[in-house]
Amino acid sequence: MTHTHQTSITTEQLAIFCKQKGFVFQSSELYGGLSGIFDYGPLGVNFKNNIKQQWWNTFVNNRPDIVGIDGAIVSHAKIWKASGHVDNFEDILLECKKCKQRFRGDHLVEDVLKITADGLKKDAINKLVQENSIKCPNCKGELADAKQFNLMFATNVGPVEGNTAYLRPETAQLIFTNFKLVVETARLKLPFGIAQQGKAFRNEISPRDFIFRCREFEQMEMEYFIHPLKANDCSFIADVMDYSLKVYSEEMQHKKNKEKEMTIKDTLKQNIIKTQWHGYWLAQFHQWFVGLGVNPEHLRIRQHVKDEKSHYALDTWDLEYHFPMGWKELQGFANRTDFDLHQHMKHSGKDLSIFDEETKQKVIPHVVAEPALGVERAMLVFLFDAYHDDKKRGNILLKLHPKLAPIKVGVFPLVNKLEEQTKEVYQLLKDDFVCQYDRSGSVGRRYARADEIGIPYCITFDFDSLEDKSVTVRDRDTTSQIRVKIDELYSILSRLVSCKVTFKELEKHYKKVVVKVNEK
Ligand code: GAP
Repeated sequence: MTHTHQTSITTEQLAIFCKQKGFVFQSSELYGGLSGIFDYGPLGVNFKNNIKQQWWNTFVNNRPDIVGIDGAIVSHAKIWKASGHVDNFEDILLECKKCKQRFRGDHLVEDVLKITADGLKKDAINKLVQENSIKCPNCKGELADAKQFNLMFATNVGPVEGNTAYLRPETAQLIFTNFKLVVETARLKLPFGIAQQGKAFRNEISPRDFIFRCREFEQMEMEYFIHPLKANDCSFIADVMDYSLKVYSEEMQHKKNKEKEMTIKDTLKQNIIKTQWHGYWLAQFHQWFVGLGVNPEHLRIRQHVKDEKSHYALDTWDLEYHFPMGWKELQGFANRTDFDLHQHMKHSGKDLSIFDEETKQKVIPHVVAEPALGVERAMLVFLFDAYHDDKKRGNILLKLHPKLAPIKVGVFPLVNKLEEQTKEVYQLLKDDFVCQYDRSGSVGRRYARADEIGIPYCITFDFDSLEDKSVTVRDRDTTSQIRVKIDELYSILSRLVSCKVTFKELEKHYKKVVVKVNEK
């Protein structure tokens, strides 16, 4: 992949960086690796947990209308028969007759013809292969007729052969199968959401682009249920009416126009986004990414064209990010209507309708929007936007949002003679902030190391600290430093890390430190 992103780092370079710093490793590398499966190192695990925590705080803990669940990974085969995954969750496979290498049909066609082929059916792929004499990219051999390939991982439960179950290919279905229990136990009233985070598994034909397309990954999904006739009755819509984002509708794609900056109000007025609820959730999640440091220039919402929609969807929008390999899906927002509840009613024979107190009607609620996000894709997006090769400093600067940074505070003794006192400062902080104590190399070198892994604030204990009971606090993004009393350190860092105050604001109240050349 040779395209570069605005941050001028390729996906391959990011993968190397992530390995070197301890964010992401190829799984089973010791034994040659398993393609599409990854392990997360010391920084990666904290980073991932922080992303999940921010999502959960924003969309579950902070909302009276949304609750969470944690469903099982190994799930009953009938769930996936009812959901349509057993019959429809397939990609098109092309196999070389000579070298037997297998390719994902739409990807191969896309790579060779430089067109968009996402969602093309078997016959369409066969036609393109024949018309354009597409051969095996590996050995130039002839390709066999395209086949359907189901992406689910099957397993056997217990000692009885044939007791097939599936590793869930999405977290969503567990929300539907637990729907009645959750509604009753949490006493939910329409409209409401049920959210879930956790592992999902897809036996992707050709996992690629580092952690963009994996076989084992994590999802953060929410099903938002409404009265079937109230898709345009969103009580929160005023919050987002003036919110503006790049919009790429089905019509714009057909006319080969570019995406256009629009407010949610205008997308609704022009019937581009069909329902208020869909508009509301698109804006909410766009805002979540921007609030955590993603440049809105790198984001757009794109409507699925007719052939691309999943078997369950009435209308789907994707939140896309401008990756080095082009605009790609970061998060999906399908309008699933009552497809899933209806299917589970049919297959289980159980009634999943609920009583709506407002209309005094028994209804099968509609999922007006299903914001479905992969944790790994979110990680990629935050990393791409944070990565800067700072030529002036001579080191990488990873400008991760403080709430996402895997390590919040670096604690350094200026010289090792001051270790005892510095460790007291470290003890003060370590219970509430993930701290990194670092004593090796010059302070300048330690700052550079902290910049490279995105530590937003570093504290240095120096000889003056012995007298004035103060330390310097350095801001990663500007390299500015202020002098702060050790007594005040905990409260200042709490406000900085939770973004209740900016470093710039603090600079007005605290003594600025003139940075010595060797500490730059
Ligand atoms: N419940 C709906 C659903 O699963 P999806 O578009 O197939 O929809 C939702 O997946 C999100 O999960 C995607 O937008 C992406 O962020 C993530 N995702 C899907 N497949 C993935 C894969 N193979 N590797 C990493 N992330 C993936």
